[in-house]
Amino acid sequence: MTSLGQLRTDREVRVRAPGKVNLSLRVGTREPDGYHPLATVFQAVSLYEEVVARTASTRTVTVSGEQADLVPTDPTNLALRAADLLAEHAGIDAGVHLHLHKAVPVAGGMAGGSADAAGALIACDALWGTGVPREELADLAAQLGSDVPFMLAGQTAIGTGRGHLLSPAMSRGEYYWAFAVRTEGLSTARVFATFDELVAGATRLEPEADRALMQALRAGDARALGAALHNDLQYAALELAPELAEPLAVAEDAGALGVLVSGSGPTVAALARSRQHALVIAAAWTAAGVADQVQTAAGPVPGARVVLSAGSA
Ligand code: C5P
Repeated sequence: MTSLGQLRTDREVRVRAPGKVNLSLRVGTREPDGYHPLATVFQAVSLYEEVVARTASTRTVTVSGEQADLVPTDPTNLALRAADLLAEHAGIDAGVHLHLHKAVPVAGGMAGGSADAAGALIACDALWGTGVPREELADLAAQLGSDVPFMLAGQTAIGTGRGHLLSPAMSRGEYYWAFAVRTEGLSTARVFATFDELVAGATRLEPEADRALMQALRAGDARALGAALHNDLQYAALELAPELAEPLAVAEDAGALGVLVSGSGPTVAALARSRQHALVIAAAWTAAGVADQVQTAAGPVPGARVVLSAGSA
């Protein structure tokens, strides 16, 4: 074991990691390992978590941003777990101080925690100079959570397996989104359990990716994409948080091309005609008082990446 944390002094690496929406999320029957097979299409969007890694003798994390108090700073923090996993994988005993500045809603169905984990893998790899190949980072990412590999990859991708097996998807153009955020998050595990109750007894088809949706993306056709948006978990999220029907309805009235619950929710995502239209939808939510917070963003964007690496090595 070497102690790289002590060899490298005063270094800082900044990483930006986006959030995501599931353009389509189709869920199969729960498997014996407790997970559901998925067929999903991810798009990374321009709401960014910032992960700052600084040289330190131990591994610690601090958090800032709107919902920072909801994020644990103990060893269960997913970014800290990412640092631990990378150190173990590389066989080093290095320290790091991680600072997470959050912009993606916490427990919102937009993979903010997964983005932090992906960001921490990239940031620590750069800080410690471990040079772990991309495929190995993706394997580590999958051990941390089903969405973490996509938060490394970014752009647009089809996810199968638990959502962790990725293949890139062709996508043309830029898409504009408005997000209605609810302060009280939803537990992904609870949403999947509610989904199981709702579909109990029904014969479930194996999930498969949507043709119309993929074609809309290839053509850069936002209107067709809006019509093809789909989320099998939406009913489960609505069962647990019935008031989500309000932002869904208000976005439709405001002319959204499509509107759905993002991932396991409770964030509601509305596809807009333009950047300006996204602001109009967000304003309609605010005026109707149906969101705790509103955001706008565009996608697709790249996955977690270093934006600054500074200090002496
Ligand atoms: O993989 P991750 O830790 O993000 O998943 C959180 C929880 O969501 C899992 O413990 C499981 O209950 C549920 N899940 C699932 N099927 C998936 C992904 C997640 O049932 N494909």
